[in-house]
Amino acid sequence: MTTLSHIDNIASITAGKFKPDKSPPYINRLRYHSSLPKLTLWSFLFLAFIFLFFFFSPPSSPPPTPSAATRHTVRNISWGGAVWERRVRSSARVRSRAGLSVLVTGAAGFVGSHVSIALKRRGDGVLGLDNFNSYYDTGLKMSRKVLLDRVGVFVVDGDINDADLLRKLFDVVPFTHVMHLAAQAGVRYAMQNPSSYIRSNVAGFVNLLEVCKSVNPQPSIVWASSSSVYGLNSKVPFSEKDRTDRPASLYAATKKAGEAIAHTYNHIHGLSLTGLRFFTVYGPWGRPDMAYFFFTRDILKGKQITIFEGPDHTTVARDFTYIDDIVRGCLSALDTAKKSTGSGGKKKGAAQFRIFNLGNTSPIPVGKLVSILEKLLKVKAKKKVLPLPSNGDVQFTHANISLARKELGYKPSIDLETGLKKFVKWYLTYYDPKKKNAW
Ligand SMILES: NC(=O)c1ccc[n+]([C@@H]2O[C@H](COP(=O)([O-])OP(=O)(O)OC[C@H]3O[C@@H](n4cnc5c(N)ncnc54)[C@H](O)[C@@H]3O)[C@@H](O)[C@H]2O)c1
Repeated sequence: MTTLSHIDNIASITAGKFKPDKSPPYINRLRYHSSLPKLTLWSFLFLAFIFLFFFFSPPSSPPPTPSAATRHTVRNISWGGAVWERRVRSSARVRSRAGLSVLVTGAAGFVGSHVSIALKRRGDGVLGLDNFNSYYDTGLKMSRKVLLDRVGVFVVDGDINDADLLRKLFDVVPFTHVMHLAAQAGVRYAMQNPSSYIRSNVAGFVNLLEVCKSVNPQPSIVWASSSSVYGLNSKVPFSEKDRTDRPASLYAATKKAGEAIAHTYNHIHGLSLTGLRFFTVYGPWGRPDMAYFFFTRDILKGKQITIFEGPDHTTVARDFTYIDDIVRGCLSALDTAKKSTGSGGKKKGAAQFRIFNLGNTSPIPVGKLVSILEKLLKVKAKKKVLPLPSNGDVQFTHANISLARKELGYKPSIDLETGLKKFVKWYLTYYDPKKKNAW
């Protein structure tokens, strides 16, 4: 049997063969005194060597200029270099006539991965960007990345707060469009980690807009707002004209802030900006923090699920929107986006500014969602009903989509039962322990 030389030795010491020096302490002290001149000489030689090394050796890495050869490292993540640039270029290469060249932020996320694949399939150039944060299972994000790799979409591991990286990406590819989906999502998590919302949804968005405003040509930007901006609105269905100044969660407040910030960059810098207010998106490759996803997991495990209800036993309902409908809405928003008008950071004329609801226009009580899942999973759920806590969730969402229908040709076509069937099919395949790589 071959041995692993020094590793074996270390192992044998730590495994208990190390014998402590049993000599009395004074003997050690004597030894120390007798070797003092030798020790001083060696220390001097060692310090001289260190000095010569630092004085004469060239810097180990070049200064952080955005040259092709430079590699940058952020939290052990490196970007840059000739090979990296080739991958970026190849991923963003447009393969159809009049195709777009799109930077998709949050590409390893639920919506981002679907949108990226759809764009790539129709011949647009697509480059993904995602920081693979651990808000939920990073394994799922990595699996989506593998899927994207297979269709030729490279997802750069990086943060929208990294201005050097963003500038570098625009240096390498003059993106015509940005599909901005990176964000800290989820309503309840804001109680635990409020600063993550500010970092991604406010600071990160501003950083992205700063870079977009200064590049030439400026891209057109489509980005994800949220139905949560309607907050405590009780007038339904929610229309884009309704008030959005009473958010019920920090998440909603950051999305509302995003809409105001977007308006500023449109007004001052001529950036073309379209905000999409998504309503509870669900489907295959979805988000584990969302009810339809964790209900499925818990029902299958035989674990009790909690269903919330409003005051006086009124139902909590959501306008569940299937991912394919959302993807069609996103693509249509990109296709109809007008060019930005700014140049060199300055506005040259009025630029397009739009906000659309992308929902399904048919709110479904959460109890009904559970009964569809029970039917599809062929398992009875163990339910507990509790009053809706005031931690950010609202009781009801319902989209008025007339504007999106008129301007984007948006027409959601998948009902909840059909969509959940597709989700459950994916879930059972993806999490089937026997078929690890079935997807
Ligand atoms: N899914 C929904 O029901 C829903 C509803 C309303 C709005 N939205 C919005 O749609 C967008 C996409 O949502 P999703 O459901 O795909 O969420 P998601 O969490 O699956 O995707 C977001 C992705 O962005 C990445 N990200 C987060 N912060 C980042 C940063 N600072 N830099 C780079 N990457 C970062 C995450 O790693 C993640 O992969 C988000 O803006 C979300 O707020 C989603």
